[in-house]
Amino acid sequence: MTAETTPALRIAGLAKTYRLGLTGSVTRMALAPLDLTVRRGEIFGYLGPNGSGKTTTLKILMGLVRADAGAVEVLGLDHADPAWRRRAGYLPEHPYFYDYLTPAEYLAYAGRLLGLARGEIAQRSEELLRLVGLSEARDVPMRRFSKGMVQRLGLAQALVNDPEIVFLDEPMSGLDPIGRHLVRNIILDLRERGKTVFFSTHILPDAETLCDRLALLRSGRLLKVGRLDEILAIDVSHFEVLASAGGPELKQAAVAAGANLTGEMGERWRMHVDEQHLPAVVAAVSAGGGRVLGVQPVRESLEEYFFREMGGNTARDPWALGD
Ligand SMILES: Nc1ncnc2c1ncn2[C@@H]1O[C@H](COP(=O)(O)OP(=O)(O)OP(=O)(O)O)[C@@H](O)[C@H]1O
Ligand SMILES: [Mg+2]
Repeated sequence: MTAETTPALRIAGLAKTYRLGLTGSVTRMALAPLDLTVRRGEIFGYLGPNGSGKTTTLKILMGLVRADAGAVEVLGLDHADPAWRRRAGYLPEHPYFYDYLTPAEYLAYAGRLLGLARGEIAQRSEELLRLVGLSEARDVPMRRFSKGMVQRLGLAQALVNDPEIVFLDEPMSGLDPIGRHLVRNIILDLRERGKTVFFSTHILPDAETLCDRLALLRSGRLLKVGRLDEILAIDVSHFEVLASAGGPELKQAAVAAGANLTGEMGERWRMHVDEQHLPAVVAAVSAGGGRVLGVQPVRESLEEYFFREMGGNTARDPWALGD
């Protein structure tokens, strides 16, 4: 296989049990033998509730924690080969910086560690600070940074060497909606440029909107890997209809034809309709002077999937929609 046809990341039999206490007699299994392949150029989501082993996996990949067993290849290179490091980026879960440095100084330091030339570092760091919205803070010591600013700088640092593969541990963590939007666009832009993004998250909507494929992890075990549409059930017997205009009579007519109203947003309203009632409901909307804006089979959300898989036991597997 040539370098380009090898997967971006190949993990085989990766396992980790932490040993606790002075004698190491107490153990905690963090990762059951894990097999996973990430293709070049895809955005791969690594999802799991708190404590499911996401950070452990990323730390093993970055060489910060030693695995008990398993083999890893990054960009077609063996994990032990240092050459892939210069072509990879990493955003840790809790980025920590020497807080007396400024972002410009820190990026210069990070770039030098990766062997970049001085001119290249200066140009890249200006670009990256602009990209993450920190240009104005370029000379402010980082001790004055908010949590979200630290996170943004962490992302800039992960991209300083224009990496072919980026590992991001909870990249949206601590960010406001504007920051999340920005990070989402940065991730999409990386894919546009042919890069591979491997990111962990427990925020289901972020995974839903971004990932080409995802892996679902629970208590250190892989539950499922695949495209979202392969993982989530699509119920084609049941449709969601979006309609606009029309007063109370029109809604009554739609309900009489078999619709179940589920929401209203200004002029538009949503309803769930069984397949057998669909033609009658559409006809009722048109006859009443309304417009059908969309008809879609009802798709399970990732959140619903998890609650189904976990038997509704949210206390044991707490999934959050936001931070
Ligand atoms: N250094 C450590 N020593 C002992 N146990 C650890 C250590 N780091 C993690 N663990 C345990 O390993 C398991 C997996 O933790 P990990 O941090 O990988 O989960 P995570 O999926 O990243 O969770 P979160 O969503 O909270 O970040 C947890 O049970 C955790 O308590
Ligand atoms: Mg974590």
